[in-house]
Amino acid sequence: MNTIVTQSPCCGETTNPQFQKLNAYLDTLAIDQKDPRRKDKLIMTLHYAQSLFGYLPEIIQIYIAQRFGISHADVSGVISFYNFFTVTPKGKIQVNVCMGTACYVNGADKVLREFERVLGIQTGEVTSDQKFSIESLRCVGACGLAPVVTINGKVFGKVKPEQVPDIIEKFLIEETKIEAEVINA
Ligand code: FES
Repeated sequence: MNTIVTQSPCCGETTNPQFQKLNAYLDTLAIDQKDPRRKDKLIMTLHYAQSLFGYLPEIIQIYIAQRFGISHADVSGVISFYNFFTVTPKGKIQVNVCMGTACYVNGADKVLREFERVLGIQTGEVTSDQKFSIESLRCVGACGLAPVVTINGKVFGKVKPEQVPDIIEKFLIEETKIEAEVINA
């Protein structure tokens, strides 16, 4: 049975800007139960919601299900089918450590443990300042560079555990520079 969401899913406020944008987007879709493109529209909506919220919290899934007139299970089925959707929050800086076979045999597990140690979080978690999150991935197709780490889409090959603090510091410096540019803009 669908849960009816009558308030903003995020803060209990109907003024939540992300929720308003999602609502406006859904209004433009003119969702029709008989529309054969309804599933495409659902996937587009999930992409849009993830771009707004950074992930797909359960309450947003329920709201989208309600707007599409389908069950929450239908929505979560689509989310779990496509691995680009995530139901857990991510940091601004997303660390992905490849744990495919080539990376694993070349020490990816030690690299992953070092990221966890330095950032003080486990895989799948986000730091309390929301800056970093860590995920492990299957083969990213760069086995010749094993072990491979990607951070916000940038690829690091042949990573050694002792390089991890420098890699993190580099991203923190870049992040600080971007924040300073935004403040001075
Ligand atoms: S196993 Fe890591 S890139 Fe292929």
